[in-house]
Amino acid sequence: MNLHRTVAHEVEAAFAAAALSGSPIVLQPAKNADFGDYQVNGVMGAAKQAKQNPRELAQKVADALADNAVIASAEVAGPGFINLRLHPEFLAQKVAAALADGEHLGVATATQPDTVVVDYSSPNLAKEMHVGHLRSSIIGDSITRIYGFLGHHVIRQNHVGDWGTQFGMLVAYMVEQQQHNAAFELADLEQFYRNAKVRFDEDAAFADTARDYVVRLQSGDAAVLSLWRQFVAISLSHAQEVYDTLGLLLSPDDVAGESLYNPDLQQVVDELGAQGLAVDDDGAKVVFLDEFKNQDGEAAAFIVQKQGGGFLYASTDLACMRYRVRRLQATRLLYVVDHRQKLHFEQLFTTARKAGWLPENVHAEFIGFGTMMGKDGKPFKTRSGDTVKLADLLAEAVERATGLVRSKNAELSEDEAQRIGRVVGIGAVKYADLSKNRNSDYVFDWDTMLSFEGNTAPYLQYAYTRVQSVFRKAGDWNRNAGVLLNEPLEQQLALELLKFADVLNHAADTYMPHHLAAYLYQVATLFSRFYEACPILKAEGALRDSRLQLAELTGRTLKTGLDLLGIEVLDVM
Ligand code: ARG
Repeated sequence: MNLHRTVAHEVEAAFAAAALSGSPIVLQPAKNADFGDYQVNGVMGAAKQAKQNPRELAQKVADALADNAVIASAEVAGPGFINLRLHPEFLAQKVAAALADGEHLGVATATQPDTVVVDYSSPNLAKEMHVGHLRSSIIGDSITRIYGFLGHHVIRQNHVGDWGTQFGMLVAYMVEQQQHNAAFELADLEQFYRNAKVRFDEDAAFADTARDYVVRLQSGDAAVLSLWRQFVAISLSHAQEVYDTLGLLLSPDDVAGESLYNPDLQQVVDELGAQGLAVDDDGAKVVFLDEFKNQDGEAAAFIVQKQGGGFLYASTDLACMRYRVRRLQATRLLYVVDHRQKLHFEQLFTTARKAGWLPENVHAEFIGFGTMMGKDGKPFKTRSGDTVKLADLLAEAVERATGLVRSKNAELSEDEAQRIGRVVGIGAVKYADLSKNRNSDYVFDWDTMLSFEGNTAPYLQYAYTRVQSVFRKAGDWNRNAGVLLNEPLEQQLALELLKFADVLNHAADTYMPHHLAAYLYQVATLFSRFYEACPILKAEGALRDSRLQLAELTGRTLKTGLDLLGIEVLDVM
């Protein structure tokens, strides 16, 4: 059920009854529960237009609202607002329906599902994953979970950088190492890249070999391709380890790297030429885009082939988009990439639309995000100023959280402390990110994210265990008893729980998981108030069963909601 829509529907009918049809209806959840559950504030604009007294008009709407199945009372306030209160019986019924809907909690699935292709994580394989890959990985993953839950067909695509001139150098260095040491294993990619670069810069013969490998790689030489494949496989297995630690849904099957589109690149450029979109410019092939003029009024140049015939990032993305639309049948294309690449994607979309590769009915969206900062307000680095490997960052998170968990509960066995520490540590890192508006930069701070108070993963995970502990003590109870909402705190909690579908749809429409995070925090906070003011286990009979049902729906909402952020819960911690 979509609560907002249900209420809006009633309000709309009342507007019509007051002869206000066509007026924009502004319905908002009330910020202050003392005044009601929702507030209507579209009347004043309408009154102004109709040259009527806003309070009188508001009263007409309020009268038309009184006494229906959803809305219990409608009161005019201030210059012409209307405060609405919903029927507790209506809320109770909906709570029961959500509970009866198992894991789906009464959230309707899309009637016209999209095929949503989500491009996320997508690291370059020449190096090890570093903190710069964290945001795309976890924001993208959450978006795929939310769209999947809402009934869409989701296809994950990990557009890894597995092609380009660096790979000649890396393969040359790999061969050199293997010659020195037959048992050579590539353990530290970062160091390996650095060493290869040193060799490339210091030894002209090595650099020649590396360049020769690039040529042979691009012409499909079997021996070099096989070396390249070895390198890519090792790098991908490093990435997959990080994904598994993070609990992402990404699997090796989702890898569709740049090299996949290699065979299509020439054709893409040729087609652009044949359509008159790409033109020759100093030996390069360029699409000039009037839509993106620079300060001097010149059209931006979207280069699709370099002088000398080499292809670029843009050529690959064009071929890739064709593939996603034609082969994967995408109706919605999402790219979760650092906001510094925004212009590239805007130009890509514009070019693809013109070329007919991105038809009208396919929606394409760039989903950017800001930078993860250190406490010094600069992009997050190690003390010595190096980039932080993602694997190291996650290991530190688990270690810190395990220590914290141990210090809070000395009775835990070492195994338990480690298991809980992993869930709390990884959850904290993910939640710290997902709870912020993705468009902003944010400061990565261990102490804040691992705190058990405030809007953090440990707080929410702890709230969940608190709900579970109620059920461990509850014994037998009637799961199908009626829901009673007599206390204001019961009503507020119920109302909040019923907003789940609205919140998920809003998070999906805006591609903003932080709306879901903020909501879960609100649910946990309201539950905690309810828990303190309304005894659950000490209540009797029907009231006890009713409160247990509210606790049950709270638990399921927290669990499902956190799962949609990619965060695990625990029964005890
Ligand atoms: N590999 C790129 C990078 O690390 C990100 C790729 C994003 N996806 C795409 N289709 N271009 O910057």
